[in-house]
Amino acid sequence: MDTRPIGVFDSGLGGLTAVRELCRLLPGEEIVYFGDTGRVPYGSRSRETIVKYARQDVAFLRQFDLKAVVIACGTVSTTALEVLTEENALPILGVVAPAARAAARRTRSGRIGLIGTQASIRSGAYEKWIHQERPEAQVFAQACPLFVPLVENGRTRPGDVVIETVAAEYLAPLQAAEVDTLVLGCTHYPLLEAVIRSIMGPGVDLINAGTEGARAVAELLRERGALAPQDAQGGCRYFVSDHVEDFARLASLFLGWDVTGAVGQVDIDLY
Ligand code: DGL
Repeated sequence: MDTRPIGVFDSGLGGLTAVRELCRLLPGEEIVYFGDTGRVPYGSRSRETIVKYARQDVAFLRQFDLKAVVIACGTVSTTALEVLTEENALPILGVVAPAARAAARRTRSGRIGLIGTQASIRSGAYEKWIHQERPEAQVFAQACPLFVPLVENGRTRPGDVVIETVAAEYLAPLQAAEVDTLVLGCTHYPLLEAVIRSIMGPGVDLINAGTEGARAVAELLRERGALAPQDAQGGCRYFVSDHVEDFARLASLFLGWDVTGAVGQVDIDLY
């Protein structure tokens, strides 16, 4: 048994997709969330910058004596997981391997679509994990650089002409490739699930990297006997590197519970 909190971070709102699933699976756990809203998006930046930001994010979270860190960000998982693992003596888990494995297991036709940030797609990390599990699978990858800024600005709803136009353009090649499974390889993208689903149709299985990552964490903590006691009262504290209000409003909408009052601001340059 381990009552210490789990640290979770992302460049912004996207990691809440992992938080929502962690809270559902493990309601007794304490979670400390950091969203680097002052520097989002990460996905269009160089490897050096992403590694530097990720190191600072982990340094901030490690003030809390954590039992594990979840990189609830596809971009950081594809780009900095190895560095962070080498530098930190606690379990650090990413979202890429769990999401890739889920896609490889669930596809029937072996035709898998992958959407992510430019850095994630460039890394080839999702393909590597998919092919380890299913060597004959065909992966059709598409970077979607405008999705993260649109999500951070709350442009997520079906009927919003901006997000619908952008999504239709990004997803057209994947529709043409007749994929039966689509990996939402950036944790922001499940906030666009309704829009993506309406374009791809009901026959395409959507894999949520945040959810798959959270399931992998729950499994690891269970295996290691490191869960909080059954009767523990869990909870979540949130920190961001920019306006608290915008994050609290969008996070409350997405999570379905009110986080106002539980969000603090951090000067991430101090770490
Ligand atoms: N949620 C991050 C990811 O999963 C977004 C990266 C970004 O800020 O561009 O890749």
